[in-house]
Amino acid sequence: MDKPSVPFDNNNDNDNNENSEEKNNDELSAALKTATASVLLRSAPVPENSVTVNGPDFNQQLSLHELLETYSRIGFQASSVGKAIELINKMRKWRLSDEQILPDETEEYKNPLIRSTTKCKIFLGYTSNLVSSGLREIIRYLVQHSLVDVIVTTAGGIEEDFIKCLGPTYLADFQLDGAELRKNGMNRIGNLVVPNDNYCKFEDWVIPILDKLLEEQISKGIIWSPSKVINRLGKEINNPESIYYWAYKNNIPVYCPALTDGSLGDMIYFHTFKNPGLVIDIVSDIKSINQQAVFAKKTGVIILGGGIVKHHICNANLMRNGADYAVYINTGQEFDGSDSGARPDEAVSWGKIRMNAEHVKVYADATIVFPLIVAETFAKDAHKN
Ligand SMILES: NC(=O)c1ccc[n+]([C@@H]2O[C@H](COP(=O)([O-])OP(=O)(O)OC[C@H]3O[C@@H](n4cnc5c(N)ncnc54)[C@H](O)[C@@H]3O)[C@@H](O)[C@H]2O)c1
Repeated sequence: MDKPSVPFDNNNDNDNNENSEEKNNDELSAALKTATASVLLRSAPVPENSVTVNGPDFNQQLSLHELLETYSRIGFQASSVGKAIELINKMRKWRLSDEQILPDETEEYKNPLIRSTTKCKIFLGYTSNLVSSGLREIIRYLVQHSLVDVIVTTAGGIEEDFIKCLGPTYLADFQLDGAELRKNGMNRIGNLVVPNDNYCKFEDWVIPILDKLLEEQISKGIIWSPSKVINRLGKEINNPESIYYWAYKNNIPVYCPALTDGSLGDMIYFHTFKNPGLVIDIVSDIKSINQQAVFAKKTGVIILGGGIVKHHICNANLMRNGADYAVYINTGQEFDGSDSGARPDEAVSWGKIRMNAEHVKVYADATIVFPLIVAETFAKDAHKN
């Protein structure tokens, strides 16, 4: 039978003389002391304002509000969702009258009434796929009720909204075979599918509008910019299901610096052959979005996803030495140096978010967390009398 192993015993022979036994005992007790000291290292006193970790208790019936209130103490991304809720509610609550009048303040902004009605300007950005998803209805709600002030999205974020007014997008599966879908004229966006016919309907709808834009450019000298085109499309769709119908109605500017990178670009390309001459100017839009930031007394940014929408909003805020509040929700990672994955602190280094700003990045699929965040912020009191 094997000899039973003894901790820290390097002596394999059977010669158990007294000296070596004593030495082993000394070594053993010293090692145990080290191990005990390492494992049971005494803590410094916990800071007084420390928050304990605690989750929801489903032994009681919880409303959505009660459940979401527990998020900030759950930890990990749940706590970040809690922080995002807190920051968005701060953006919503802020008024210029909360702050002291600055020595160089203009006469207009010394007026108490103007101070008490001057709000934080909220910039909302979202990637195209989020308009393909059911987040479109949430974004529409925010715009319908003028709960955000400036929007930035990509081309798909514009056209997918109009296309949904012309034909539905369907739930499908991430695993559907691309070649089979192509043969059947179906386009996949993650686990959603859009029939190609919807894009044909979009062409039938948009080409006559492009004709009108060109005609007005020639006859009235109108210089179209992406935001002016989106505003006009919102007017033309005349459908309360559309985000951009409400943006047009409520005068909320929508910026899309890469307006041609989508089906809309395909249509504009075809239009150059059928009826050439339409010009879309991006210079007036960069001036317009930057001025939105420059003249704001306070700004908050809510950015769903990365890429252009994230950078365009942050860069506009650089013009005022940074945003005051920032909520990022995205799945991007920073190890590759991408702007999509960069944490808010990287934008602080560029002056796109202020050094004293409050900010959070929620690492999550926006389709999961944004509905919860809106429920506990913008929509929280919507149905109260
Ligand atoms: N439906 C579509 O997605 C669609 C349609 C037409 C054209 N396009 C074009 O494709 C190009 C690229 O699209 P894009 O710039 O809008 O975004 P994108 O799809 O390239 O996403 C940019 C980044 O945002 C983050 N992100 C995306 N979806 C997210 C989610 N659900 N939750 C959290 N984070 C998320 C990820 O980090 C991603 O890398 C654009 O020019 C757009 O116009 C897209």
